[in-house]
Amino acid sequence: MQETIERQGDIVPVPASAKEGTSCTLEQYNEMYARSVDDPDGFWMEQAERLDWIEKPTKVTDWSFDPVNIKWFTDGKLNICANALDRHVAAGKGDTVALIFEPDSPDTPDRKITYAALLADVIKMANTLKKMGVKKGDRVTIYMPMIPEGAVAMLACARIGAVHSVVFGGFSPDAIAGRIEDCKSDYVICADEGLRGSKRVPLKGNVDEALKKVSVKSVLVVQHTGGNVNMTEGRDHWYHEYSEGVDTECAPEAMNAEDPLFILYTSGSTGSPKGVVHTTGGYAVWTETTFRYTFDYRPGEVYWCTADIGWVTGHSYIVYGPLQAGATALMFEGVPNYPDHDRFWAVCDKHKVNIFYTAPTAIRALMREGDAHVKKHDLSSLRLLGTVGEPINPEAWRWYYEHVGHNNCPIVDTWWQTETGGHMITTLPGAHAMKPGSAGKPFFGVCPQLVDNDGAVLEGATEGNLCITRSWPGQARTVYGDHDRFVQTYFANYRGKYFTGDGCRRDEDDYYWITGRVDDVINVSGHRMGTAEVESALVLHELVAESAVVGFPHDIKGQGIYCYVTLNAGVEPDDELAKALRNWVRTEIGPIASPDHIQFTPGLPKTRSGKIMRRILRKIAENDFGSLGDTSTLADPSLVDGLIEGRLNR
Ligand code: WT7
Repeated sequence: MQETIERQGDIVPVPASAKEGTSCTLEQYNEMYARSVDDPDGFWMEQAERLDWIEKPTKVTDWSFDPVNIKWFTDGKLNICANALDRHVAAGKGDTVALIFEPDSPDTPDRKITYAALLADVIKMANTLKKMGVKKGDRVTIYMPMIPEGAVAMLACARIGAVHSVVFGGFSPDAIAGRIEDCKSDYVICADEGLRGSKRVPLKGNVDEALKKVSVKSVLVVQHTGGNVNMTEGRDHWYHEYSEGVDTECAPEAMNAEDPLFILYTSGSTGSPKGVVHTTGGYAVWTETTFRYTFDYRPGEVYWCTADIGWVTGHSYIVYGPLQAGATALMFEGVPNYPDHDRFWAVCDKHKVNIFYTAPTAIRALMREGDAHVKKHDLSSLRLLGTVGEPINPEAWRWYYEHVGHNNCPIVDTWWQTETGGHMITTLPGAHAMKPGSAGKPFFGVCPQLVDNDGAVLEGATEGNLCITRSWPGQARTVYGDHDRFVQTYFANYRGKYFTGDGCRRDEDDYYWITGRVDDVINVSGHRMGTAEVESALVLHELVAESAVVGFPHDIKGQGIYCYVTLNAGVEPDDELAKALRNWVRTEIGPIASPDHIQFTPGLPKTRSGKIMRRILRKIAENDFGSLGDTSTLADPSLVDGLIEGRLNR
């Protein structure tokens, strides 16, 4: 295999520096991968042994994809917060820095929080939650900026066995309300305000708006900016007041491996976002193991993942993965372009970051600003780079490798999903040569399979729909309150297999290349967006009769949002209305769902049976209308010319 690789032009060998002292060479990878599939019980028990178990599991694998019933380490008991904190403090690492907090403004002092201090903070929050009435199994909604208290809130829930549901701070009041309602959450933890590029985000204000639609028992408010907020008597409590005098001890709750740890809402091709449920034991083992091997973490190193804790990347690779591995993780409140486009590099330089993990969209945006911003800073501390969220185009990959990684940092292009809990396909830094644009090889225990639309298995170098044939410890177990939806969404297309929703190519070296979603989900700046969600937001507007939303290639965002809108009879379209509709979607869902284009049309292209022909709409949005394919089944083929004429992406 190695031979084929060397013959290829577009392949970047493992840098010599990445081989030195690596936790996993190619030989080790091959051996460990083989063992992980031949003897999953033995392999995963060994990985699990790095964690502290209150009761060691006797059962390791315990799952079926038909019928769908997924369990791992079934009879084990543990607490993930104790594994992230207490374990390290007990091992004498209390003085090791757990979190470095870099605030929005470079003029605000940073904070370094040791494992011992973080444990004390988490205990205080945990006891405060108990005082508020939170019990094991209760759902707690967290709506926080990127400040250490966000991580503290998550870990405090985990400590007492409450199930957290983190809602990204960029989501709208409606989105918060929907999520609170769906998981019947009686408690909210938020901050007064967040800061992003010196702008204030009214977090508590948004919670207040949301709570006009749904009600909760209590809201715990962390003071961050000191901005003015309204407090509702009896319902809202300031954290710094309410936590006064709580106990300084709080024993971690003994959780069954299969007790839920968190719910995280994610978009799909139909309906409202699904509350994906992750449980405790398998997720703990998966995030610790993937963090350790993918980033080849070495004690003393500073690791920085630029994601937000509101996404799964933040859950697994800011909080649970790095902390369980005893790493020093940087948490950044701000944005890449404030105060200037060099902020990421300034922060890498300031904190001597060794491992840097970000999204292709950020790389593309910063690349566009020119190399001078990078050159200004000493990035020699960087040893390893990572990307996540969407396919990376080889041009951006090369720029990242050359300018940020000074031509000797391996890049791990990690493919995974909210539902997978952690990395699934990625090269390992000391083991695998890299191919720019390819995620690479399956992680231990991951069995990818490509199938055609009828489910026939495709062998060898080929392209198809990406399925995973066996369970892995970090796999989501269900959709909150709707197990049938879980089964239908992931296991019904290809019975007995987990279907990822992604298209994928496998090359002659068995490297995997993710080609993007094959369902009605689009990927905007690494964030998953259901086109159906945007459509339902649009039709809620009183002047809109119907809409169809598709993605189109976007230089920076990966994909942009293109909306076709039909107005109610008699309503005249104009630019003002397009602007109003754009704002409407922003307030209904959040700024990440802002449409790039809104094209008005007297009707949508439908088959005679009434099905919208999205293929045609996608082509027109891509500005590729030369080959629309067969349009003869359309009820009104004449619509198409008008759509082409009025196209907005030229
Ligand atoms: C979808 C999952 C995984 C955390 C962030 C997004 C796309 C993710 C890659 C990658 C190509 C990728 C896929 C996937 N995706 N990482 N390295 N290369 N595509 O999590 O919101 O659950 O989205 O993101 O399409 O299905 P998510």
